[in-house]
Amino acid sequence: MRTDTGRIIHLADYRPTDFVLERVDLTFELDPTETKVEARLIFHRREGADPNAPLVLDGDELKMTGLLFDQIELAPERYTETPDSLTIRDLPASVPFEITITTLINPEANTQLMGLYRSNGIYCTQCEAEGFRRITFFPDRPDVLAVYTVNIIADKAANPLLLSNGNFLGGAGYGEGKHFAAWFDPHPKPSYLFALVAGDLGVVEDTFVTMSEREVALKIYVEHGKEARAAYAMDALKRSMKWDQEVFGREYDLDIFMIVAVSDFNMGAMENKGLNIFNDKYVLADPETATDQDYANIEAIIAHEYFHNWTGNRITCRDWFQLCLKEGLTVYRDHEFSADQRSRAVKRIAEVRHLRSEQFPEDSGPLAHPVRPTKYREINNFYTTTVYEKGSEVTRMIATILGRDGFKKGMDLYFERHDGDAATVEDFVKCFEDASGRDLTQFSLWYHQAGTPQITVSSSYDASAKTFSLSLEQMVPATPGQTAKEPMHIPLKFTLIGENGAEAQPSAVSGGEVTGDVLHLTERSQTFVFAGIGARPVVSLNRGFSAPVNLHFSQTTDDLAHIARHDSDLFARWQAITDLALPNLTAAAKAAAGGKPVECDASLCDALLAIASDDSLEPAFRAQALALPSESDIARELGANNDPDAIHQGRQAILSAIATAGASTFRSLYDGLAASTPFSPDAAGAGRRALRNAALSFLALSDNSPAGAAEAYAKADNMTDLSQALTVLAHRFPDATETHAALSSFESRFAANALVLDKWFSIQATIPGEGALDRVMRLMQNPHFTASNPNRVRALIGTFAFANPTGFNRPDGKAYHFFAEEILAIDKRNPQLAARLLTALRSWRLLEPVRADQAREALMTIERAPSLSSDVADIVERMLKG
Ligand code: BES
Ligand code: ZN
Repeated sequence: MRTDTGRIIHLADYRPTDFVLERVDLTFELDPTETKVEARLIFHRREGADPNAPLVLDGDELKMTGLLFDQIELAPERYTETPDSLTIRDLPASVPFEITITTLINPEANTQLMGLYRSNGIYCTQCEAEGFRRITFFPDRPDVLAVYTVNIIADKAANPLLLSNGNFLGGAGYGEGKHFAAWFDPHPKPSYLFALVAGDLGVVEDTFVTMSEREVALKIYVEHGKEARAAYAMDALKRSMKWDQEVFGREYDLDIFMIVAVSDFNMGAMENKGLNIFNDKYVLADPETATDQDYANIEAIIAHEYFHNWTGNRITCRDWFQLCLKEGLTVYRDHEFSADQRSRAVKRIAEVRHLRSEQFPEDSGPLAHPVRPTKYREINNFYTTTVYEKGSEVTRMIATILGRDGFKKGMDLYFERHDGDAATVEDFVKCFEDASGRDLTQFSLWYHQAGTPQITVSSSYDASAKTFSLSLEQMVPATPGQTAKEPMHIPLKFTLIGENGAEAQPSAVSGGEVTGDVLHLTERSQTFVFAGIGARPVVSLNRGFSAPVNLHFSQTTDDLAHIARHDSDLFARWQAITDLALPNLTAAAKAAAGGKPVECDASLCDALLAIASDDSLEPAFRAQALALPSESDIARELGANNDPDAIHQGRQAILSAIATAGASTFRSLYDGLAASTPFSPDAAGAGRRALRNAALSFLALSDNSPAGAAEAYAKADNMTDLSQALTVLAHRFPDATETHAALSSFESRFAANALVLDKWFSIQATIPGEGALDRVMRLMQNPHFTASNPNRVRALIGTFAFANPTGFNRPDGKAYHFFAEEILAIDKRNPQLAARLLTALRSWRLLEPVRADQAREALMTIERAPSLSSDVADIVERMLKG
């Protein structure tokens, strides 16, 4: 492992390389512990570059066994080798030259899962962001684009399959039980998109005919015996390819598109050119083993990685500061894809829930950073929810401001102007400015200013003048390294709802720009006046969550109920329900903290139960309304001095009140939504299951008995219902015999299926209360717990830290100290995984002082530990400082 150097990389220091890489020829002789890599690199000095500048190549824990210059061994005085760099001097001023580097690497010992490693006997690679330098010395940066040829030599029996990027050139035997294959990728690419896979896998095959009538072979490789579980992924892939042609006019550009599923993977999936590599969690699904959420994730991630072929691969990033250029944009594209495949409103609600629970805390805590940062210490730590999800929201706002056609024109220009480039955020924004004629200078602050804008809203109606006034004041909070902020351009979708529920149409608007249903807030404070409004309207603001901001608007309960009943935007209706619920939940937390009885407004119960039983609304929407704000949503609303136990108790009391008031509603919902056959993973079926399981959960509260959930568990014929029933049992009745029986039957039934066992670990890791830590420690002793598998570690330790607020935040701090020890142990084998898990503590400063002190102690234990990785050192130091 590379230990921390503390070096910081600045955007301002960017400059192009002195040498241009023309071609790359790689030959791999695969061996589990001694793989030989020969890299032939053809360079020439860039025009105008310093004629004496040396060639400096990146490495990471590398050992070189040969170095040739134009096929001749290079004299030792002409180069300097260290494990993380190779510097070659006295190179030609203008003519091209060839450097041939031989390295020996050990895939079996690669526990970081970066570079070339082994997963379940399969050779595979992960090179983004800086993994290629663990394979050979190389200019390992995204603005170095080259055409690659790859030769793979390996034992034939163990590795019948030899794959790399691009098109297959040919293969043959290679003496003594070996064979080789050659691949050529005609599209210039940066090294982070390189991939190699070798091993023995099963395959699912299909074809896709593109809009210009080219036939593309589609192959999904999975472990033998799991082929049937790749059918849904294949279907999602074909739908993605079709959608990208129809909506963005983008066609696939090679003869073959391959996906390989592996079981040990740090991330979700990776968009390597023509050869995507996936965490098998996001490929494999069948009704018996995958939940509806799993199916939705597979659809979204298959699409996301496929969409990168244009947004990321054909047009890549100039440097890693531009990461949102590919990730934010591609998340936006996958969100739109899923919205078109499923219910747009329900998808939007889920996105906003996720944004608020993940990105908002990041943006208001010590790890806050702009969507386009200007400095980093460890790039792995910048694959954040801010770069991804806020980056996607920024793209969405461009679409909102320019409108559908303007956005399309800007995207078309981007593809036309930058195809084959390594581009910047400025290049991207310029395309929208040039295509629309609109100045986006102020808007660009969204890329540069961190922090969630806070907007304070007030309104008044003047009956005699028939005017409605809306006053808005924006404030962007200070974030690490950024204290003073400029006002932003915030596009807020809105409508004015009349007494009868119809939308009021103003005769004129003054005070600022309004285009269609979008109000453009550009000043620090601004008052919009709407004329010709006959009766006091109710304003529905930030419809569809058009801007990722927090609104502070004390709308009355009646006004919120009016929106919840009448808004034609389902997202806004859900938001109104949330706004009705939150004050109840925060009051309940405060009451619980003070040992007082918790009360629940009848109006909240009424509104929720009305929605629950409104058959005109889609079941998935009703389930989202019934899900109520989470414990972390409530914590965020409360701001500081959080007591997770009080929040939990208060929320449970509100849920119980709703369960009691709605017992008959939930009973008839549950019975009425009985599983329809045959099972289908589509959005409609998933919605019915979501609503039915929401009802089950309320019934368990009102019955105060495990019997209903135990029966549901026994009858379940799909993983969604089975895991939901198990969750209700484990979370509400952790000590019941029914729960023990269900947990152990689940464990033995799925003992051979790692992905399902992960669910078993996660469900138990999230059982609330003070028994949680002992339970997690006990589960770590379970023979199924494997510390080397990232999915398993995330399922148990990650889920405990991220999703068990009462268990993890026990007041004695024991869980924090346990966590710190685990982070240090994980850091030794897999720094990237350790650093990501550690962000679970990112909101530690909002805890009440006793817990906050314990959390700080635990963080300091990590900070003081010897030989931290740069990944963990970077996170822990920012968390303690910011
Ligand atoms: N390019 C990333 C994979 C990646 C992430 C590589 C971080 C190296 C470091 C890929 O396109 C991606 O974004 N994957 C996401 C899933 C996606 C649907 C948001 C992931 O792996 O979580
Ligand atoms: Zn991505």
